[in-house]
Amino acid sequence: MHKKLYRLTYILPVVLILAFTSEKQDAETSEMNRFIDKLMEEMTLEEKIGQLTLFTSDMDHTGPFMREHYLDDIQSGRVGAIFNAYTAEYTRELQRMAVEETRLGIPLLFGYDVIHGHRTIFPIPLGETATWDMEAIQESARIAALEATAEGLHWTFSPMIDVTRDPRWGRIAESSGEDPFLTAQVARAKVRGYQGDNLKDLHTMLATAKHFAAYGAPQAGRDYHTVDMSELVLRNKFLPPFKAIIEEDIATFMTAFNDMFGVPATGSEYLLKQVLREEWGFEGFVVTDYTSINEMVPHGFARDNKHAGELAMNAGVDMDMQGAVYNDYLAELVAEGKVSERTIDQAVRRILIMKYKLGLFEDPYRYSDPQRKAELVMTEENLEFARDFSRKSIVLLKNDDNVLPLSDDVRSIALIGPMGDNQRDLIGSWSAAGDYTRSVTLRQGIINRQGDRTRINYTLGTTVLEEDRSGFPAALRAAAQSDVVIMALGEHYWQSGEAASRSSIDLPGLQEELFDEIVKLGKPVIVVLMKGRPLTLENVDEKASAILETWYLGTTTGDAITDVLFGDYNPSGKLPVTYPRNVGQIPIFYNARNTGRPESDSKFTSKYLDVSNSPLYPFGYGLSYTNFDYSDIRLNTSEIPMNGTLTASVTITNTGDRFGEEVVQLYTRQLVGSITRPLKELKGFEKIALEPGESKEVTFELTWKDLAFYNAKNLFRAEPGEFHLFIGTSSEDVKQTTFTLLE
Ligand code: BGC
Repeated sequence: MHKKLYRLTYILPVVLILAFTSEKQDAETSEMNRFIDKLMEEMTLEEKIGQLTLFTSDMDHTGPFMREHYLDDIQSGRVGAIFNAYTAEYTRELQRMAVEETRLGIPLLFGYDVIHGHRTIFPIPLGETATWDMEAIQESARIAALEATAEGLHWTFSPMIDVTRDPRWGRIAESSGEDPFLTAQVARAKVRGYQGDNLKDLHTMLATAKHFAAYGAPQAGRDYHTVDMSELVLRNKFLPPFKAIIEEDIATFMTAFNDMFGVPATGSEYLLKQVLREEWGFEGFVVTDYTSINEMVPHGFARDNKHAGELAMNAGVDMDMQGAVYNDYLAELVAEGKVSERTIDQAVRRILIMKYKLGLFEDPYRYSDPQRKAELVMTEENLEFARDFSRKSIVLLKNDDNVLPLSDDVRSIALIGPMGDNQRDLIGSWSAAGDYTRSVTLRQGIINRQGDRTRINYTLGTTVLEEDRSGFPAALRAAAQSDVVIMALGEHYWQSGEAASRSSIDLPGLQEELFDEIVKLGKPVIVVLMKGRPLTLENVDEKASAILETWYLGTTTGDAITDVLFGDYNPSGKLPVTYPRNVGQIPIFYNARNTGRPESDSKFTSKYLDVSNSPLYPFGYGLSYTNFDYSDIRLNTSEIPMNGTLTASVTITNTGDRFGEEVVQLYTRQLVGSITRPLKELKGFEKIALEPGESKEVTFELTWKDLAFYNAKNLFRAEPGEFHLFIGTSSEDVKQTTFTLLE
């Protein structure tokens, strides 16, 4: 075929389809707008305020304050959305009240914290980020949505995309760690998984970007505490994931509890109007966090709840979670002229649009079908995915003398420690409707694989929360009688998550003392860690033969860890956060800026007297049972014009004798800038799989946008100049080259 004609025949149908699709979309939007206009014309002010109100049911408690009369509130149209209510039967019953017993019958929206799975529980978010596998993360969110929507839910309060550099803060468990770029990729993948392509699809749900903004940087790592940072740090480090997620058409944003520049986020016109709506063009609705309107009173920003309601509404908050402030005061505020009806209408419209897009006006019960639960929830397929996803989250922190993987023929294992045969902790915090009695413990996982082949001498040794040495002698006996010692240590599940800050991040209780006693026997000790945050592990690192970071892996924990222990899966996880040596180093993060006196042997430099500046384990770190060799970096050019594209390639070879996966990481550093620049910043990564002896070339492309940052005038610009470019296996172990960005 003639080349031009070929192109025409190829392009024409595509153009026609696109034109047709956009015409169809326009028609659908007009129809939706007509429907909502008509509905809003019929609504009283009270009914409108009801739509701006979200109350919890009593099925689950996620905050300090319960409202006893939420059923009356539904029946009287005082509430438009309910959270913490699930199951097809229960949501159907509540929906019936809203649809049949209120004047206009507007359906309820059901929200819930489906954070890392709904019934099938996946690794906590910090753990799932350690996979660096965006397809798998998207798939986990898709399955979570599949299960949650099958139980009547329309809306998840996830992803939590607060960048954090403070392991004392318990909610680091719910985050993707310290890096804005990695967090943004995870955020995008999760939103794609939850929302899919079409919200009307029965298996998709609204997602929430939370907590807007900078909630991950509380002073001293104490939850809900004050946040204070420069606008440059805010824009360059804490906002990028929120900005990125707008491109995924995220449906909702949740405000944060904290204040920022002295203004609580829930009353911040800067965040909610200027940044979110005007600069980023967000079109969905904004919900508060739990009673965060009311909390503007103790913050010292509002005189009383009524004043707080006025500030929140005028700042751009559409929905009040649990505070009842809009319910109690908005009508008065309108009568007094302090809030305009136009502002209220705008918020109501945003919420009704989401209900419309979910198809709730066509059939309010469409998600509440018990049959679907039976078909879709905790299926073999979901559990199989969970196991694979969980083992991908595991990070091998140490493996002296290749003590791992274990041989199939190991005759006896001493399994010691409070996490060895414990089901509850495994699903972590924010485990939605997860049933911990379904979770597979490590002991069970080993039995599942080894059966009678291996004797397991399991003993608790000590507990997490008590100072109890009574189990030490039995633990020492078990260790002495076994070929291999595995110690399963960690935190109680409520020691991380919300309201779970710790000033010490040592292994709690007497676990470390028990570890020291066992190590003295002189046998190799393999430590399996289960917990929600980096802990201070210098002593463990020094004495253990091998260490596996397994976070809280969820329902299939035991099987997933066993896969790694015995080499059925070669670990490929990499840390999404820096591990400090001690708590005094915090905050410690890889993308810090240099000082005028970088650390050296000389006294007057930026360092501690009692510990080095280096972390115990750096960001991006994680070992494998095989080895990967990196070639030098090849660039297409060493000078790129501002509108050009730099390509950087490396060849990676699996030099060991096992199949393995590697996360290839690219970092840059601009040497001189109009503001001081970080020592390294992650700009790209790729996870590859290599057979023994196999090589693969990995190529990254960078344009000015990847090198740009917010400058002192708050403009997003790339600046010409010299850069270092690094590619490697962690933020510290890299190859390096140089290039220049031209004017
Ligand atoms: C948390 C939110 C959560 C909400 C609803 C709050 O305490 O900060 O992350 O979505 O409760 O459960």
